[in-house]
Amino acid sequence: MTDTNTARITVANQKGGAGKTTDVIHTGGALSARGHDVLLVDIDYHGGLTCSLGYNDLYYDTDRTTLFDVLDFDQMESVNDIIVEHGEFDILPRVRNSRTTRTSRRCWKRQRAESD
Ligand SMILES: Nc1ncnc2c1ncn2[C@@H]1O[C@H](COP(=O)(O)OP(=O)(O)OP(=O)(O)O)[C@@H](O)[C@H]1O
Ligand SMILES: [Mg+2]
Repeated sequence: MTDTNTARITVANQKGGAGKTTDVIHTGGALSARGHDVLLVDIDYHGGLTCSLGYNDLYYDTDRTTLFDVLDFDQMESVNDIIVEHGEFDILPRVRNSRTTRTSRRCWKRQRAESD
């Protein structure tokens, strides 16, 4: 966290469905393919990135420590515990919890498909 050589890229747009999540996945993959160590942080309360990459179980794991917990309760030392490894990059997933009551349609559709 104190490495000042680390580039931080934010993809944000008020417009829904503009391609933010898609951009993040492809940019992360491209940077990883070029040898960079990449961490994708999902701070969209819909968890679009988390669920697009197939981490539905994490999104619905309400016992899981979240980025909110880490920041709100000043537990920065435990941030590494909530990061998961993916084949191409690391991910700090979004977790649906009692403070985020709306469920992403994408997560819901994927969960429904998996339970069919
Ligand atoms: N360059 C592109 N060309 C065509 N379709 C695209 C492109 N980028 C994204 N899409 C499609 O557009 C839809 C929305 O993309 P995406 O989920 O990345 O948007 P988003 O901005 O993250 O949406 P949200 O606001 O819901 O989080 C998806 O179905 C995606 O496959
Ligand atoms: Mg998105």
